Amino acid sequence: MKGLILSGGRGTRLRPITFTSAKQLVPVANRPVLFYGIQAMADAGIEEIGIIIAPETGDEIRETTGDGSQFGVRITYIVQDEPAGLAHAVLTAEPFLGTDPFVMYLGDNLLQGGITELVRDFKANTPDALILLTPVPDPEHYGVAELHDGRVTRLQEKPPEPKTDLALVGVYMFTAEIHDAARAIAPSPRGELEITDAIQWLVDQDRRVEPHVVLGWWKDTGRLEDMLEANRLVLDTIERRVDGDLTDSTVDGRVIVEEGATLTRSTVRGPAIIGAGARLVDAYVGPYSAIGAGCVIERAEVEHSILLENSSVRDLDARVESSLLGRDVTIGRSLGQPRAYRFLVGDSSDIGIA
Ligand code: DAU
Repeated sequence: MKGLILSGGRGTRLRPITFTSAKQLVPVANRPVLFYGIQAMADAGIEEIGIIIAPETGDEIRETTGDGSQFGVRITYIVQDEPAGLAHAVLTAEPFLGTDPFVMYLGDNLLQGGITELVRDFKANTPDALILLTPVPDPEHYGVAELHDGRVTRLQEKPPEPKTDLALVGVYMFTAEIHDAARAIAPSPRGELEITDAIQWLVDQDRRVEPHVVLGWWKDTGRLEDMLEANRLVLDTIERRVDGDLTDSTVDGRVIVEEGATLTRSTVRGPAIIGAGARLVDAYVGPYSAIGAGCVIERAEVEHSILLENSSVRDLDARVESSLLGRDVTIGRSLGQPRAYRFLVGDSSDIGIA
């Protein structure tokens, strides 16, 4: 069985971060989201993984992810010229996939508990496709499934008036038949070849599409709130490890302080992670924070936030909360008069001042 991870697309909802970086590389607990999907496949014994990349962000994904040896798998990169939909991505990967069955994992999705058992079930029961579903409060933002007597009867992509609250999770298992399905369908109103429509085609052809309702957590990390929540969920599972240097500092609870990080007169309250080489001076880092490598926090407080590499926060009166800072961002107080805000802010940034 092969693996296919979809890491193309545009990532408009996480702008401005995704102006310069792929959304699948935004870190959750200091690891790119994409790495969780690769790890889940590796754990399930899948050794051959294709990763769909876009021309604009593909190089960065290649550089960060490499040939797969860090996960014990072999990675082949497949360029999709335009983000024409998930089923289009499958067709683009057809030369790589051949006639093998495969697991497809959306590169911006996170699924608790991995996929090992699902892969085992799929191999044992040999349906034509296996889809994962989970109840959500806002099904109109997802593919939505209708079931009757435990069988899939209808699938619709982001219906304005969903018939059920069962969303399609971004992890699927397919046999090669999905290629015929992807060729048979027409683009949706948003102009994409939808995988949801391709699976509906299988249902219409009386193929066996097995639903599996997921009870653990699942996150599509497309938006800021989802990103922060994914960060929370993963940080809740970490084990304490302090490899950095502490001077007159306190580290409470489940906290990872990576090698080379230094804490001076600072407090970190877990769950939290402080990346390699980060520097905290007279700082407070509160629960559910992921501070990237090389970040600096001086005379400031940060909580429930994600800071990407080499960002700095200095001399702030109020705590930074529920925030996502990109790479090399600096936020600080400039001394002197007049007291004023001074910004150099990229497109689509979002700044809240209380
Ligand atoms: O997250 C689950 C949802 O994912 C499902 O419920 C929906 O049925 C499914 O269509 C999908 O919806 P999204 O609108 O969230 O998909 P998005 O455009 O965010 O793309 C998902 C991943 O696939 C993302 O990592 C980008 C990548 N992608 C996307 C497109 C459109 C590609 O690699 N190529 C593409 O052409």
